Amino acid sequence: MTIRTILEFPDPVLRQQAKPVTDFNAGLEELVKDMTETMYDAPGIGLAAPQVGESIQLIIVDVSKLEHAQKTMVMINPRIIGHEGHQVDEEGCLSVVDLTANVKRFQKVTVSFQDLAGEAKEITAEDRFAVVLQHEIDHLNGILFIDHLSMLKRALYKKKVHKMLAEKETPTEA
Ligand code: NI
Repeated sequence: MTIRTILEFPDPVLRQQAKPVTDFNAGLEELVKDMTETMYDAPGIGLAAPQVGESIQLIIVDVSKLEHAQKTMVMINPRIIGHEGHQVDEEGCLSVVDLTANVKRFQKVTVSFQDLAGEAKEITAEDRFAVVLQHEIDHLNGILFIDHLSMLKRALYKKKVHKMLAEKETPTEA
């Protein structure tokens, strides 16, 4: 198991449409192990494969709070096939540093996916769990939570990141 580097905005991989997984092989299992370690190390409550530079349709979600044991749910080729209501909750993202903001999401979602063995599954989630699923599935479509904010908020954040990057690139003398 290896802790992978988490890509940060504005890395272009985060903006790609992730490819469907067709090969349920040992490499996929290895990637899930790396992602699990990376997520708990960060720490985060969900991670999408593109965040570690693998543009494929794979997400993992920490369900410890629901199951009362350290447990990760692995979802491959996930799709939202049903939704109900709305909620607003505060979100952050391991790939969007130094920002949290309220985002409007569905209150309840039904998601179809495949497990690591390639078996078709379905799950209905609500509240916070539903938020995490929507956030992670967005990653597979090149969408970040900042895309759900107002244009002004997004512009302010982009400006801040560009400033941070410019400062990093300035060579330090002495
Ligand atoms: Ni995220």
